[in-house]
Amino acid sequence: VAYSRGFASLAEERDCELPVEGDLPAWLDGALYRNGPGRFEAGGRTVEHWFDGLAMLRRFGFGDGVRYTNRYLRTEEYDAWEAGRLGAGQFGTAPSGLRQRLRSWVRPEATDNANVNVLPVGDRIVALTEAPRMVAADPRSLETLGEFAFADELTGHLTTAHPVRDPHRAESINYVTRFGRESEYVVYRLQEGARSRERIGTVSVDVPAYMHSFGLTARYVVLVEFPLVVHPLDVVLPWRRDESFLDVLSWEPERGTRFLVLDRDTGQRVATAEAPATFAFHHVNAFERGETLVVDVVAFEGPAAMAALELDGLQAGDADPPRGTLQRYRVPLSGGRASHEERFAGITLPRVPAPVRTREYRYAYAQGLTADADFANELVKVDVAAGTAEHFGEPGRYYGEPVPVAGPGDAEDAGVVLAVALDTERERSELVVLDAVEFDLRARAPLPHVLPFDFHGRYLRDVSGSTQ
Ligand SMILES: [Fe+2]
Repeated sequence: VAYSRGFASLAEERDCELPVEGDLPAWLDGALYRNGPGRFEAGGRTVEHWFDGLAMLRRFGFGDGVRYTNRYLRTEEYDAWEAGRLGAGQFGTAPSGLRQRLRSWVRPEATDNANVNVLPVGDRIVALTEAPRMVAADPRSLETLGEFAFADELTGHLTTAHPVRDPHRAESINYVTRFGRESEYVVYRLQEGARSRERIGTVSVDVPAYMHSFGLTARYVVLVEFPLVVHPLDVVLPWRRDESFLDVLSWEPERGTRFLVLDRDTGQRVATAEAPATFAFHHVNAFERGETLVVDVVAFEGPAAMAALELDGLQAGDADPPRGTLQRYRVPLSGGRASHEERFAGITLPRVPAPVRTREYRYAYAQGLTADADFANELVKVDVAAGTAEHFGEPGRYYGEPVPVAGPGDAEDAGVVLAVALDTERERSELVVLDAVEFDLRARAPLPHVLPFDFHGRYLRDVSGSTQ
């Protein structure tokens, strides 16, 4: 099946100028960095989940045309794959790679296969995953510079690859989970230019939830505990070979969904609210409206979205691709019940441009799936206020996560949207540059090969001083 071409391994590493069809805005002079898997086999075995592919960074540098670079992270995991085996502690014999990864996070040999996202720290690009290990890379060559560590003592077993950069306060917020008899979420900030994190606040919980991202407003951090939980003993007891995936990540819808609201300055928990069970990987945006927090997520009916991303189905082209719905939650600062309503259906991987992050906003961008789609075959610009969307797609193409880049102008949607598309007819990938206002094609830059589908990325004007 055509889209499955994007789940094949790519051996080649390139650093080259791309031909550009169309016209690129002169103000677009930074670089788009992306992270995701590039290889799926080692020693005759194929990893079992898309999330477990070997980390490869991608860079699209703008200025005089488009300079394309892709490079594998040289990690312990990379060395193991080169030697023909999967890394220690990562996969073993378990039925699910993701479960193995979760297990490996609490073991000393936690994986360094940082394949999910990137964060600029100082003059480096830091590759992130949900394990606490990070890997630094050169922002121009993508050459691996070694394992990265913050200059602080903050530790945890599990984190998110979605630190939220708030350009209005020149800091990034994230949290780590510590498993124990009493588990904790530790929320922290990283100021622009800093190498050490500052703890904002801690929430103690008996049964921590798997939270892939979180919400951030100007004044509050909103941790949303979906009822996909981890029983801490399941990760610290000795492994049993015949356990299923759900022995570790447990879907317990009777718990409902819980919103934990922390004051971003004092770290105090100011509200707790509840809503019916749902599951989301990605928050879209959040903001304050009087005494209510508006928290937008792309939600799924349950954790089936995770199983849908197992590699055998994706490589065979018969996966049931996740179709999320943009759900708007209203969380009272007085606590109690959070209400919600569906705003738009059939999307995944949502993004908003940096200037509206933590603010009231109108437009979100996402991968979209038409009614008959077998995989993400369009990009959408959702008018979150109206619950409508504009669509962009071309025949034979599948799209990755769109990255909106704010440009000159007062309009909220002034700028462009950058995305990597798989062109199945020409058997190559291409970078597409959409005008964000009209939501139509402004330029495309074909790549010399098919780039495997990736997860997340950021546009940075310059690595050390960017606010995108
Ligand atoms: Fe993600």
